[in-house]
Amino acid sequence: MQELGRLEDLPADYRAALTRQNLVPLWPNLRAVLPPGKPRPKTRATYWSYATLRPLLLKAGELTPIEKAERRVLVLANPGHGLENMQASAAMYLGMQLLLPGEWAPAHRHTPNAVRMVVEGEGAWTTVNGEQCPMSRGDLILTPTGLWHEHGHDGNAPVVWLDVLDLPLVYYMEASYHVDGERQSVKPGRGDRTYARGGVVPTTVFQRNSSPYPMLRYPWVEARTALETLAADQPDLTAVQVTYVNPETGGDVQNILGYYALMLRPGQTLRLPARSPAAVFHLIEGGVEVGIEGERFVLAEADTCCAPGYTTVSLRNRSADTPAFLFIADEAPLHRKLGVFESRD
Ligand SMILES: [Fe+2]
Repeated sequence: MQELGRLEDLPADYRAALTRQNLVPLWPNLRAVLPPGKPRPKTRATYWSYATLRPLLLKAGELTPIEKAERRVLVLANPGHGLENMQASAAMYLGMQLLLPGEWAPAHRHTPNAVRMVVEGEGAWTTVNGEQCPMSRGDLILTPTGLWHEHGHDGNAPVVWLDVLDLPLVYYMEASYHVDGERQSVKPGRGDRTYARGGVVPTTVFQRNSSPYPMLRYPWVEARTALETLAADQPDLTAVQVTYVNPETGGDVQNILGYYALMLRPGQTLRLPARSPAAVFHLIEGGVEVGIEGERFVLAEADTCCAPGYTTVSLRNRSADTPAFLFIADEAPLHRKLGVFESRD
């Protein structure tokens, strides 16, 4: 590959003249922005242990009242992006959020899309545009762009959930902001009940529901049952995986990030191709070893790790007797919409 001219090869007075006019020579930077063959991601393979972060999160509950935090979150930050930038990957933000019994995280709405994956505890709820969604371990709750949401907790033990947002991307686009609101009144009707049966959707006088987010809560009991049924029905199937979709359109539940649940059969090793989007793996049940290029992470329940794009990932169920269940988030809807999606074997 041809070596290109460096900035220091140019005369100092010429460089100064360029700078005064807000001009920059491309060739010293060309290889950095267009590297050969594959990108050079800042995103590093990174692992967060729940057992290690949990006491720190509970300590935050003692140190900072909810009124002083609004959202009491420890961000799972990727050191490759600089911890202060609070990014898991180019487009993904991850946070572990704590809500204590009786607390209320006030209503707001914002441009970034969010989902919650419930990690621990019972009795909390998220109200989204008036629909009150109960939160149990493994449930996926959507709070899409522009929709009012608030969190409350009527149980008697701490509740923790994993927040996944497209905040880094929306912030990068200079489109990130929030609006505070009043406590919402709860409306009747819940999407998780309306769409609880596959293959049929509500149709009022032949009219389909045109809401972009008809279903806001995806109960873990349903996703887990779907995976177990799929595994039993197709014993030769390599990857027992489901995608969280909009039940009206079959499309991804949100515009930017994609969400999936995966079951590893007892003893199974699954190799995922090198896909262009970065991905996050959160273990719901079991024990899984994750290989991301040269890195090896052993995930216990509620542990999380992230893999940069263009990287093969291997997932190994460490148990020979029981299945393992993973929640996965990735940037695939974004890559597909932008026309840059790739999958390399
Ligand atoms: Fe929010």
